[in-house]
This record gives sequence, C-alpha cells and structure tokens, in this order.
Amino acid sequence: MASSYYIPLEEPSRRGLHSRMLNVFLVLSAILNLALLCFFTLTNRPVFDGFQDVPYVYSPAENVVRYKTIKFTRGFLDEISIYERDPSAAVDNAWRNLHSFERTKMSTSEAMRMLNTTWPLEREPGQYMFALDVFHQLHCLDVLRKEVYRDYGYKHVPMNHIRHCVGAIRQALMCAADISPIVWQWSEKGQIVERRDDILHVCRDFDQIRDWASERTWRAMESDFHVHGKNNSTVAVESG
Ligand SMILES: *[C@@H]1O[C@H](CO)[C@@H](O)[C@H](O)[C@H]1NC(C)=O
Ligand SMILES: *[C@@H]1O[C@H](CO)[C@@H](O)[C@H](O)[C@H]1NC(C)=O
Ligand SMILES: *[C@@H]1O[C@H](CO)[C@@H](O)[C@H](O)[C@H]1NC(C)=O
Repeated sequence: MASSYYIPLEEPSRRGLHSRMLNVFLVLSAILNLALLCFFTLTNRPVFDGFQDVPYVYSPAENVVRYKTIKFTRGFLDEISIYERDPSAAVDNAWRNLHSFERTKMSTSEAMRMLNTTWPLEREPGQYMFALDVFHQLHCLDVLRKEVYRDYGYKHVPMNHIRHCVGAIRQALMCAADISPIVWQWSEKGQIVERRDDILHVCRDFDQIRDWASERTWRAMESDFHVHGKNNSTVAVESG
C-alpha cells in the first residue's frame, strides 16, 4: 500500500536531463547578466543615478530624455541672455517660446500607465490632457519676471498665483537638487577671488523635450474644462 504512495523525486534518467537543463539555464543567466550590465553601463544614464534604486513614476516623455553638458551664463554685464534682458517684445517672445507647449495630449494607452488619472479631451476621442511640469515651472518663472518688471506695463498677477508659482519653482529646484560645483577663481580685474557659476552642468536636453511637446499640443477651449458638469460654474478652470 505505502509503496504506491512513494513517488521518487527524480528518476535517474530524468536527473540527467535536469542537470543538462540546469547547465543551459546557468549559461543563459550568465549571458543575460552580462547583457544587463552592458546595457546599464553604456546607456546614457547620468553618473549620479548610479545603480541606486530610483523610485519610478511614469511620464509619457520618459523616452525623450537625453543628457548633454551645458555651460551656464552668469547674467552679468556682457553675459546677459535674452531672457534676463529688460522687457521688450523680443524678450516676451523668447519667454513665450519656453513655455508655449504647456498643453499637451496623450493616448489612452499612455493614460493607462499614469499613476494619477487625467481628464479626457472630449473633442478628440482617445486623447487625454496633460502638461509637462517643466513648462508649467517656466510659465511660473515668467509670471514672477513680469511681476518684477510691472513698470513695463505687465498685468498685475494676484498674490495667490504668485504664491503658487514661488512654491512650484522652489519644489522644482529642490527636486532636481543640482549638484554642479560652482567655483571661486581669481579675478585680475577685480583683484579679488570671485564666484564663477559659468561652469558645465549635466542637463536634460530641453530642446528635444520641447520639440516632442510641440507635436502633442492642443489649443485649449473653455468647453474642454466643462465636460463633466457641462455648464456647471463650480467646475474650476485652473490655467496656472
Ligand atoms: C497622485 O498620486 C499620489 C500617489 O497615489 C497621491 O498621493 C496624490 O494625491 C495624487 N494626486 C492627484 C492630483 O491625483
Ligand atoms: C455641479 O458641480 C457640483 C460640485 O461638483 C455638484 O454638486 C452639482 O451637482 C453639479 N451640478 C450639475 C448640474 O451638474
Ligand atoms: C451651455 O452653455 C452654452 C453657451 O454658453 C449653451 O449653448 C448650451 O446650450 C448650454 N448647455 C446646457 C446643457 O445648459
């Protein structure tokens, strides 16, 4: 009776098969490990990410990110970029070009990968609205710039919007926590050791991200934000 319940764990003939399979498995595993190592070493990952276990939140633009080194401008004397010049139509235009692609759309399959849900664009079935925060943050900096140059005739921005923008920019800076080392060097002209922030930074390629966003824009209509409550005045339209 008892013997009928006895099932050998491995029959001798099968044991040979198993160990052959184990060998194949080990070789495949070694190849896979090597391939993964090469992938992580050779791909454009910034050094500071290292092999750390970085938390993940999906963004439809995650595959657009490329890195490059950029030398920052100091913003003094002869080194003042268009963005920091006194207000003019050209300066306004330059700033507008920085954040004009804030309203972008994503497909249903992309929307399904989102951690936070977003709203459908009723006019375009299968499309959902979103904005890349970099454009929102730049918009906020532009709001502060215009507030500083109010004399030029910019419209006054309510304090709650200013506060929102200060918070958005503060959190963006802390989130990115730029660790590029600013240096001090001797200045013959000033006969003093001075701070030099015109150094190289490892940056995400902003132009690539903007190009990507430019192909996904939608022109916002008031009605886009009222699809739930229809003419419900309690539906908030937040543009900032
Ligand atoms: C987004 O998701 C996070 C994590 O679940 C949550 O804490 C946060 O409140 C969400 N925000 C919105 C606007 O859905
Ligand atoms: C308008 O929105 C409010 C708040 O969401 C809701 O309580 C109300 O029922 C809505 N009214 C209509 C007509 O949809
Ligand atoms: C909503 O308002 C628009 C114009 O503002 C009007 O044409 C439309 O009939 C209204 N719809 C409803 C459901 O009240």
